[in-house]
Amino acid sequence: MPNMTFVLFGATGDLAKRKLFPALYNLFLDGKMPTAVSIIGLGRTPYPNDEFQSKVEQALRDYSRRPVQTAGLQDFLNHFQYCTFDATSDESYQNLHELIQYRESALDIPENRLFYLSVAPQLVDVIASNLHSSGISQTKGWKRLIVEKPFGSDLKSAQQLNERLSTAFSEEEIYRIDHYLGKPMVQNLESLVFANPALGLLLDHSKIANVQITASETVGVESRASYYEHAGAIRDMVQNHLLQLVMMTALNLPEELTAKEIEIKKKEVITSLRPIEKETAYRDIVRGQYTAGEVLNTPVAGYKEEPGVNAASMTDTYFAARLHIDNQDWSGIPFYIRTGKRTDKKSTRIVIEFKSKVNDNNKLSPEGIAPNLLIVEISPNENISLRVNMKDPSTNRFIPTAINFSTTQEEQPEAYELLLFDAMTGNATFFAHWQEVELSWKWIQPIVEAFEENALPLHTYPAGSTGPDAANQLLQEDQFNWW
Ligand code: BG6
Repeated sequence: MPNMTFVLFGATGDLAKRKLFPALYNLFLDGKMPTAVSIIGLGRTPYPNDEFQSKVEQALRDYSRRPVQTAGLQDFLNHFQYCTFDATSDESYQNLHELIQYRESALDIPENRLFYLSVAPQLVDVIASNLHSSGISQTKGWKRLIVEKPFGSDLKSAQQLNERLSTAFSEEEIYRIDHYLGKPMVQNLESLVFANPALGLLLDHSKIANVQITASETVGVESRASYYEHAGAIRDMVQNHLLQLVMMTALNLPEELTAKEIEIKKKEVITSLRPIEKETAYRDIVRGQYTAGEVLNTPVAGYKEEPGVNAASMTDTYFAARLHIDNQDWSGIPFYIRTGKRTDKKSTRIVIEFKSKVNDNNKLSPEGIAPNLLIVEISPNENISLRVNMKDPSTNRFIPTAINFSTTQEEQPEAYELLLFDAMTGNATFFAHWQEVELSWKWIQPIVEAFEENALPLHTYPAGSTGPDAANQLLQEDQFNWW
């Protein structure tokens, strides 16, 4: 891996502490960091270097998936320098430029510069254009820009943001993070059928009844009301994570493809997504908001009672939808997606439900035979299982039983480790490309507008439940249930 400078905007923020420093440390433990790397953390509050390094160390102790080892720790921390920074001040960029050049020459690092923007959305284009005008991004080596979500708040703002970023960085240099694409099981999807021909046979489309994608959470809005009140589940989870999961699931690749080919296939999927109109969105979309309830045996407040939330808020904390992918592979097979905060459990999974035979043997099983399911658990557990029906000889009834294909014994790397490593090595396969982002916004824009105009009901659901009843009815209309 080439030696480089890693400039982190937002180094005193939550993401840096919880995810980025631990990810860098685990890469370091695995020997997956460049031999010479200068990591420059930027933030508004002034800190001496040693205090910043102590903060990094504390973050590792609090959040690293592997325990901090004394050996090598100081070497790791020595990579970090801090620079007080105001994104709108020319002087800040000048200071930063000098520090980058000073470290490059002290450590003999070529002008390869990776800029990670973990900052408020309104600062993203300001920083990118200042990096350009200050000369910091005009390097003799390569330059790359990693941008955190949200990428815009609607189609227009996303297009404007992209236009501004493109004046300073080319599409190949922009790495838009969607951390769901960094989850190891999501990265597996692309090669699942290729590596497992038997699964390919199973995934014969004429035998699939529907596909369900769930990303449920037990946490509520936490301390993020000021952001979430404007975002809602639709912008926070659906436009990015869930639509990316739809694209990755629908890829269904029989052969190993290059990064570019995967990008093209993903684009084909999102282009084939049948549009949902604002006026008729209520037919295929369910939005919900949690009320007070009990999550994991603890009483919790309703969304409207959360700190910072408007008591009359119409923000969606739950979203479910019926989608149709009108291409040759998936035509006639509905995709159902859902996500919600304060539900009964934390689980991200993809379930493929197979068609059942007509229930003609109810002598054996009065309840009918449960459908076969292929379940891909993405997090918090990683697992693939097949649900089959086994006959219980004592009652002569069929009982659904899961066969596990894979259980992860060893702890897997975290999404940010994989994504940071890819960005450092210049592999953009698991980042969101502009056309995917734009097409996702295009598809979801009428629904965003329907929400803003309250053109469809806001259902409530008690915290700790699986979501509003309306989401169950959505599937029951098609004679299905959520799994
Ligand atoms: C983030 C959202 O992108 O993803 C959060 O902003 C959400 O609201 C989180 O909690 C869920 O991620 P994960 O990896 O815990 O499923």
